[in-house]
Amino acid sequence: MNAQHPLAVVTGAGKRLGLAITRTLLENNWEILALVRQPSTALDALAASGRPVHIIEQDIADPAVWFDLWPRLRERFGRLPEALVHAASLFEHDTADTSSWAAIEAHRRINYDSFVAAASAWMQCADTMQRGAFVALVDQKVQRLNPDHYAYTLSKLNLAVSIPFLAQALAPKLRVNGVAPGLTLPSGGQTEAGFHTAQSAFPLGAGLAPTDIADAVLFLLQQRWITGQLITVDGGQHLQSDCDVLLRAPS
Ligand SMILES: NC(=O)c1ccc[n+]([C@@H]2O[C@H](COP(=O)([O-])OP(=O)(O)OC[C@H]3O[C@@H](n4cnc5c(N)ncnc54)[C@H](OP(=O)(O)O)[C@@H]3O)[C@@H](O)[C@H]2O)c1
Repeated sequence: MNAQHPLAVVTGAGKRLGLAITRTLLENNWEILALVRQPSTALDALAASGRPVHIIEQDIADPAVWFDLWPRLRERFGRLPEALVHAASLFEHDTADTSSWAAIEAHRRINYDSFVAAASAWMQCADTMQRGAFVALVDQKVQRLNPDHYAYTLSKLNLAVSIPFLAQALAPKLRVNGVAPGLTLPSGGQTEAGFHTAQSAFPLGAGLAPTDIADAVLFLLQQRWITGQLITVDGGQHLQSDCDVLLRAPS
């Protein structure tokens, strides 16, 4: 890696966890290619503040994206970016009873196919001595299965099992790891109160924050001898028993 100013693509960088990861990487001397589908005020403000952030507007559901983007970035920056953090995701509620081919395909494309295509296309663009690191954001849910968010969960299960395979197939050029967050921000229309109740049922209690996820991503990008790992950062949510949830649910 370029020790002076490593270059990372962050997908979903415009808000929430992707934005927190972007901020943490910037604070640690990274230059960021922030890939967003739509502009965000917070990201525009970060770029306007003079930080090394370049905004790329792109829909990553497009199958050609990565095979086209890596060569373009190499041309523009004079080198292939050393890292990718895949924080973009589709997260829509469905169940086995309500899901559809379209829902399964849409979640799979953004949450899983895009990461695998990015890694494969990066490999095809990399010179013999190139080294890099990719981190995919997964979900603690892959370790504590429950049947809601059916299409989303299937896509994240695919993503989780692809990590050791990609790490093996793409070594030594590319390290591939994952971070599995627990509930870190309110999601799916959750109220602040509902979010705090849910977090306080974690074995380690409430308080998991976007910077905790970003710190784990940074660790995996910097630790040159780790590959094929999925680190769960969730306050123990994946260890939670149904009893924990019921005992702390609002009356
Ligand atoms: N937040 C949590 O508590 C939590 C818990 C467990 C796992 N995770 C995982 O952590 C990651 C980040 O979570 P989050 O809550 O910050 O994610 P999020 O709000 O669900 O989505 C992040 C971004 O994905 C982008 N995106 C969606 N479809 C796209 C497409 N076709 N092309 C380009 N960008 C697209 C969206 O960008 P635009 O706004 O530009 O459309 C959005 O800003 C996700 O992988 C999520 O599954 C999060």
